[in-house]
Amino acid sequence: MKTLTETYTLHNGLKIPKIAFGTWQIPNEDAYQAVLDALAVGYRHIDTAKSYHNEDAVGRAIKDSGIPRDDIFVVSKLRAPAIGYDETIASFEAQLKELGLDYLDLYLIHAPWNWSDRSVSVTPQNIEAWRAMEDLYKQGKIRSIGVSNFSVKDLQALLDHGTIVPMVNQIRFSVGFTQDEIVNFCNEHNILIEAYSPLGTGSVFSDSNLEAMAKKYDVSIAQLCIQYCLEKGTLPLPKTRSKDRMIQNATLDFGIKEDDMKVLDAFEEIQRL
Ligand SMILES: NC(=O)c1ccc[n+]([C@@H]2O[C@H](COP(=O)([O-])OP(=O)(O)OC[C@H]3O[C@@H](n4cnc5c(N)ncnc54)[C@H](OP(=O)(O)O)[C@@H]3O)[C@@H](O)[C@H]2O)c1
Repeated sequence: MKTLTETYTLHNGLKIPKIAFGTWQIPNEDAYQAVLDALAVGYRHIDTAKSYHNEDAVGRAIKDSGIPRDDIFVVSKLRAPAIGYDETIASFEAQLKELGLDYLDLYLIHAPWNWSDRSVSVTPQNIEAWRAMEDLYKQGKIRSIGVSNFSVKDLQALLDHGTIVPMVNQIRFSVGFTQDEIVNFCNEHNILIEAYSPLGTGSVFSDSNLEAMAKKYDVSIAQLCIQYCLEKGTLPLPKTRSKDRMIQNATLDFGIKEDDMKVLDAFEEIQRL
């Protein structure tokens, strides 16, 4: 599966595998086997977060896989809302310990908002968290730093107050949900878009138009949607607990014709289940 060995290059020169294995909603007791399976299948990019409560299992699977640590791109996220400078450093150290690792390949601010009340601005905290992440990066404890769920306004605040442009913005991105304004801004600033929920957290499977187009290419809906993300220049993070689906999701030896890309670009949002 060549898609698992292909890479994008971040603006600091770091290579990042083009498809990641997502671990949201895989509880700690199941995440160990899921990550072992993903690594056995060939995934070399694993996405977790403090708030997924599975860093312990993810770290153990990475260690027990027998694959050299340097060959695996490990991502985790600071919990949201972002917190101050000292708390960010402390959280990073605690997460690294939970994962049992010496360094992270990418660390993200999980979201620019307070999950319980998005109307409350936490921009000053985001700026302080970013300052801490810049310092961790300069100390070599993280090989790249970025953000998640950041709007243009949220990103601009970091550009105005920080010294390092985020290398990644991990956002919801799938057929029917392409967030063009954020994507265009990120492209202008050389910020790689990571496409989370590339399968709409499962919602794409009930769409008959997608089913028809997938049939035309003799692929599954999952393969069509993941390939769409890649053709848009984003980095998809599909999640599955099934080893067969892990293989399927990375078996992408087809291209989507320009006309069909236009059809997919024009899709309405597919409501998440
Ligand atoms: N930064 C953020 O705020 C944020 C938010 C959401 C997600 N994420 C990241 O993005 C990752 C993926 O997003 P997601 O978890 O929302 O879901 P997703 O990858 O869009 O969809 C996962 C769903 O699709 C099913 N599935 C996967 N492959 C399939 C296939 N080939 N055929 C049929 N069904 C298939 C899975 O079921 P089975 O498991 O049963 O196969 C699961 O129900 C997360 O795990 C996480 O790492 C980040």
